Amino acid sequence: MTSVSVETAAVIVLAAGAGTRMKSRTPKILHPLGGRSMIAHALEAARGLEPAKLAVTVRHERDQVAEHVAALDPEAIIVDQDDVPGTGRAVEVALEALDAGAPVQGTVVVTYGDVPLLTSELLEELVGSHQAAGNAVTVLTAILEDATGYGRILRAGDGTVTGIREHKDATDDERGINEVNSGIYAFEADVLRRALAKVTTENVQGEKYLTDVLALARDEGGRVAAVATEDRWQVEGANDRVQLAALGAEHNRRIVQKWMRAGVTVVDPATTWIESTVELAEDVTLLPGTQLKGRTTVARDAVVGPDTTLTDVQIGEGAEVVRTHGSGAVIGPRATVGPFAFLRPGTVLGEAGKIGTFVETKNAHIGARSKVPHLSYVGDATIGEDSNIGAASVFVNYDGVNKHHTTVGSHVRMGSDNMYVAPVTIGDGAYSGAGTVIRKDVPAGALAINVAPQRNLDGWVLANRPGTPAATAAEKASATDDISLESDPS
Ligand code: UD1
Ligand code: CA
Repeated sequence: MTSVSVETAAVIVLAAGAGTRMKSRTPKILHPLGGRSMIAHALEAARGLEPAKLAVTVRHERDQVAEHVAALDPEAIIVDQDDVPGTGRAVEVALEALDAGAPVQGTVVVTYGDVPLLTSELLEELVGSHQAAGNAVTVLTAILEDATGYGRILRAGDGTVTGIREHKDATDDERGINEVNSGIYAFEADVLRRALAKVTTENVQGEKYLTDVLALARDEGGRVAAVATEDRWQVEGANDRVQLAALGAEHNRRIVQKWMRAGVTVVDPATTWIESTVELAEDVTLLPGTQLKGRTTVARDAVVGPDTTLTDVQIGEGAEVVRTHGSGAVIGPRATVGPFAFLRPGTVLGEAGKIGTFVETKNAHIGARSKVPHLSYVGDATIGEDSNIGAASVFVNYDGVNKHHTTVGSHVRMGSDNMYVAPVTIGDGAYSGAGTVIRKDVPAGALAINVAPQRNLDGWVLANRPGTPAATAAEKASATDDISLESDPS
């Protein structure tokens, strides 16, 4: 991350609210969007400012939230809000905790844990404008067609900001204002500290409003200003699952668009989901229904999809991955995978190798140009180069207690329907017959075959299953056979 041009003493992320409209046993801010919790997005944006300190105010589902925050950001100071409700109190307790030791001086930014699309860039713009103008408070605002529920920005005749009125406390005239408070602010620490001490709970909701700080700052002669953003998505919170989905789709739309502009062909952006941690090269093609997650990387000219979900998968140049579900796998350059493949962790497919149709792999290294084309399970195996595993084969890796490894050499040609009962080793250039159950090592260049000789008991069906459709069919066939034998006695 590039170093930021503004100095932020502290960021306070508010995350004490109940989030009842989610109707969930999971705390609201732990709900995921784009592969990460909402609070993870909020923390990333906050950390982008490189603040000297960062605090998160918690209360609802306190332990679960605190544990999650600590795991994401061990340096974050977790602060408990007490019984006094409201955003003002949430900031006040955080500031008290941040002040422990030496009182915070300079700019303090406040953000919400449930506003996932906010970026560090917009926060930087807010702080930059706040500091350049020498403001006491700068609030980030947005113009909304329907401002219902939001705090409204009050301005004097000269356009300067005089305060914020909460929807529930507003007059009809004030409710006509469509510039709203995003809830994201830059404050000078001293102003914030002094004003919060004066904020009361005398309002319709009986809460300590952070919004009251603006008028109080102005009363003591401070400059209060607004930075209006045109990107309403960046200030939108998710209060229920409908909003969460809408924000998730917009988040994805932005990522997909970024990659298209970077040279990736996305045939259907609406059904292509890319997490922010994914890396794609130029001239990658993503077909409809593709989801790329985690640390997935795709190299040049590779084609992924349709209907493919990959988590932490590395795809080499020019590879093709069709209708595949995979995680923790490496796919070599020009290799082909699918359709209908299941790649489990530890799968490594070499250059121009193949994992084909209805094949499952796990902890399997398959060398360059080697192929597992059809209907097979390859678990705990190493396969050399230029080898072929016949259709419908199983690497029998589990004895009911332990897992064992199978090693297959290079230029091996194994028959269809083989069982590799691990641990077992197959030497270079070996062959096997169809239906072989390989329980012993196969030396290089040997043909392994262990199927019992086939016996045909002539007339068995007629004798043992008389009157069945099979018996009738057999009778008919033998009659035809006789005729053909007569007409062509060779
Ligand atoms: C608040 C603003 C409102 C603004 C709106 C934007 C106040 C008084 N009002 O509305 O002007 O338009 O946000 O979304 O600030 N929180 C706590 N502790 C609390 C209460 C809330 O930490 O006691 C946190 C919540 O978890 C949430 C954020 O503060 O992240 C906002 O709370 P919410 O109840 O959604 O905001 P409102 O008060 O409705
Ligand atoms: Ca809200």
